[in-house]
Amino acid sequence: MYVCICNDVKERQIKTAIAAGVDTLDGLKSALDVATCCGCCEPMVNDYLDEHHKMSSDANLASTLAYAV
Ligand code: FES
Repeated sequence: MYVCICNDVKERQIKTAIAAGVDTLDGLKSALDVATCCGCCEPMVNDYLDEHHKMSSDANLASTLAYAV
């Protein structure tokens, strides 16, 4: 699915970059040129980043709780 029409960037590319450690909006802009033109896609890119950070936070919490048990 296309996320950034201006720069021809797909959801898969964004998620792959995030999984590879590019987990900031500026990083994604540099790596993929996403959200560097009209900016209409920026909220969706931020949603992917928020989802990633929440999952990372949940994983850290689960890891911490596992040590506590
Ligand atoms: S749709 Fe991404 S910058 Fe325009």
